[in-house]
Amino acid sequence: MSHKIQTLSGYLHEYQKSVLQPEEFWGKIAESFHWRKKWDKVLDWNFDEPDVKWFRNGKLNITENIFERHLYTMGDKPAIIWEPNDPNEETVTLTYRELYEKTCQFANAMEAKGIVKGDRVIIYMPMVPEAAIAMLACARIGAVHSVVFAGFSSTSLADRIVDCEAKMVLTSDGNFRGAKAIEVKSVVDEALEKSNSIESVIVLKRTGTPVTMKEGRDFWWHEEVEGLSSTHQAAEMDAEDMLFILYTSGSTGKPKGVVHTTGGYMVNTYYSFVNVFQYSIDDVYWCTADVGWITGHSYIVYGPLLAGATTLMFEGVPTFPHPGRFWEIIDKHKVNQFYTAPTAIRALQAFGLEPLEPYRFDSLKVIGSVGEPINEEAWHWYHDHVGKGNCPLVDTWWQTETGAIMISALAGVTPNKPAHASLPLPGIQPIIVDAEGNELTGNNVEGNLCVKFPWPSMLRTIYGEHERCKQTYFSTYPGLYFTGDGAKRDHDGYLRILGRVDDVINVSGHRMGTAEVENAINEHPKVIESAVVGYPHDIKGQGIYAYAICNMEGRTEENLINEIRETVSKIIGPIAKPDKVQIVSGLPKTRSGKIMRRILRKVASKEISNLGDTSTLLNPEVVDEIIKGAGL
Ligand code: PRX
Repeated sequence: MSHKIQTLSGYLHEYQKSVLQPEEFWGKIAESFHWRKKWDKVLDWNFDEPDVKWFRNGKLNITENIFERHLYTMGDKPAIIWEPNDPNEETVTLTYRELYEKTCQFANAMEAKGIVKGDRVIIYMPMVPEAAIAMLACARIGAVHSVVFAGFSSTSLADRIVDCEAKMVLTSDGNFRGAKAIEVKSVVDEALEKSNSIESVIVLKRTGTPVTMKEGRDFWWHEEVEGLSSTHQAAEMDAEDMLFILYTSGSTGKPKGVVHTTGGYMVNTYYSFVNVFQYSIDDVYWCTADVGWITGHSYIVYGPLLAGATTLMFEGVPTFPHPGRFWEIIDKHKVNQFYTAPTAIRALQAFGLEPLEPYRFDSLKVIGSVGEPINEEAWHWYHDHVGKGNCPLVDTWWQTETGAIMISALAGVTPNKPAHASLPLPGIQPIIVDAEGNELTGNNVEGNLCVKFPWPSMLRTIYGEHERCKQTYFSTYPGLYFTGDGAKRDHDGYLRILGRVDDVINVSGHRMGTAEVENAINEHPKVIESAVVGYPHDIKGQGIYAYAICNMEGRTEENLINEIRETVSKIIGPIAKPDKVQIVSGLPKTRSGKIMRRILRKVASKEISNLGDTSTLLNPEVVDEIIKGAGL
């Protein structure tokens, strides 16, 4: 496989080349793809607007680079291996040819419903091969997909439909997750009552759950594809045409629609996939993420399929029907690369070693981590018991906005260090800055993590809100992309990510904006004001701690706390449900009325020995009351 770095000196050489001659470096990688028309310039950029364009005037279709490029040599190779929720149900394997045919057929079905290049299509589906087919079919016809995690509520779904004025929803009747079948279509029905741009809904039959089909709007997937051709002429896309929008939480306001474009995303996801995981052509690779998150986009679907890899998709959860389910799947499918999140590792670690005992793990070559800082204890457990001490563990740092892995060891090629994402990939130029934005060079430095040069898979804008994109990422430190994370370069020169420095909480590797959760809490009629902070949580990494001022009339505290938690679950989704709710009579505020979150964070973390100066607060007396109320 070309572009695969195999030695440390090779890495150092490539890295240096990528910094000195970035256009030549990325241009060379891009040349291995099929372009209908080659670009006339590799890169145009400025971080002030921001305005970043990769592969100017290049024309291509990303699915031609997945299918047509691989079909002659790999038509019969498994592209997707799908493992169902229930181990007694049969595994489905789709070869590159089968996946191609199903993608083309579904692209034809979408076109028959009037979808054309540039239309936005929402995908709200379980982890089934059709979710990948839906994404690829959109890309085939040039429609812009926006996958919404199927655990989000109807309100969250409606907000996204409205924001991107989507024309179609692709969904299923239900979703098997562990012992339960969850309704999906009914959530879509509710969302469609709160939005009006959707013209058609295509529904995959998965659970057999009864659903209401609205005449003229709702159609069954299996009926729509019947008799349709399994070939399709891919739309010609400009390198900078939108490929997808993915909504993610920020520190303020509603979720942001992060926009990724075609050419750069293709080149970058492929390159990072091959190098970080050191994928070899017969390997079976498994990423446990959901397609609703960026990890599912870049490292279940696009990166692996662009590399001609076999990618495993798992419908279920790690603990059903038993806590050895992940390990069982690794042995069953002889998985070579396994990529998961620290929260899953910690949850499984809690069951002890017994669930691992029946399994051999001998196919594993590389294990990976993503989504949040991995603590040393989880790192060692994962490395010693899953990787059996001899698999490189890649701790991959990146974001929805970066599109691809930015900082990570290349498995077995560059050194591993527990709890350190370690070194940037070639082509990526992260720096650490102090509060004024001065670059901190050398080792043993700590500050905020920025990137000083564009990379192909970076976000281009926030859908419909370019100014917000500029404010959020490019204004804190002019001339730099600001990640929102703190980082340290240790005495050996390895990067360690320290977590968010803004009002974003990372719950089980999923981003939650504190403002978003507060807005949901405030929807409860008894809530007057609220403040949400993160606190250390053994399994989830961070938990959500909410303080709420309420009108208690007619409620017990316990009832109200439950109602508040349910309100958040209903408005955003169960993942945003606060772990703890504390009813308070006031929130600590500065004289200008700003909530002092620093104090709330300390109380939530049970670190009250050093609360700092509280005398300048407008209402210092509430601090003692809050400490007492927290049981400290
Ligand atoms: O705080 C960082 C954390 O997750 C954030 C990005 O979240 P999201 O856009 O949802 O993407 C998650 C999957 C790429 C980052 O700002 N994060 C991600 N990976 C790591 C991490 N923190 C520490 N170490 C990591 N390996």
